[in-house]
Amino acid sequence: MSERILAGDPFGGRQPTQHERMSGKPWDASYHDGPAPWEIGGPQPAIARLVYEGVFAGTVLDAGCGSGDNTLHVASLGLPVLGFDVAETALAAARKKAEDRGIEVTFAAADAFQLSRLERRFDTVLDCGLFHSFEGDERSRYAVSLASVTEHGGTLYVLCFSDDGPDTGPHPISRDDLRAAFNPGSGWNVAAIEPDRVRTRYHDENGAPAWLATIKRA
Ligand SMILES: C[S@@+](CC[C@H](N)C(=O)[O-])C[C@H]1O[C@@H](n2cnc3c(N)ncnc32)[C@H](O)[C@@H]1O
Repeated sequence: MSERILAGDPFGGRQPTQHERMSGKPWDASYHDGPAPWEIGGPQPAIARLVYEGVFAGTVLDAGCGSGDNTLHVASLGLPVLGFDVAETALAAARKKAEDRGIEVTFAAADAFQLSRLERRFDTVLDCGLFHSFEGDERSRYAVSLASVTEHGGTLYVLCFSDDGPDTGPHPISRDDLRAAFNPGSGWNVAAIEPDRVRTRYHDENGAPAWLATIKRA
């Protein structure tokens, strides 16, 4: 594909996700007019709790890191952390926060479906709000892609909207949806799926019902 075509392509040469096709906009547009609905001005409480519990170890990947509040919180532990996203506006904001706070961390543009292009492997992986943005076969393609960059025995934490309870988020996920995507066939074993909460700008301070899944690389 020529650079001339890529220059006018809001998707930078990658295949748009189903969410982008439905909304008619690239993910980057979510970051153009003030904070996106999931930008709460700091890390998600569930992720801050994981950090407090000391579950992050080794090299860390934050998948669909957005403007980096969770990534930076993990990186403040002093671990080597890479956050990736397709939204360049979010990545620029994340890099600025890292610089302002003096936190060493890397933010890179990458497509969740083509992670082998990173040519790196990670011990602990975080997904806060990315998995639940995918539909249909995107979920299993993502699981396979993520497995390609995760060390055997590594751990993936997925925080996603759940289908359990009133006032669910816009992309409610069932336990079966998680198990269907993350299974030995895609390189994973689900160790636990616990109820949790995701905070947003449009729910009250209790946030929306969520699952926190702990998933081991087979
Ligand atoms: C709901 S937001 C969550 C952002 C961040 N994790 C947080 O908690 O603030 C989902 C993020 O996934 C990114 N994303 C969506 N599809 C992607 C893909 N195919 N590859 C990489 N990032 C993607 C979006 O740009 C967006 O920043």
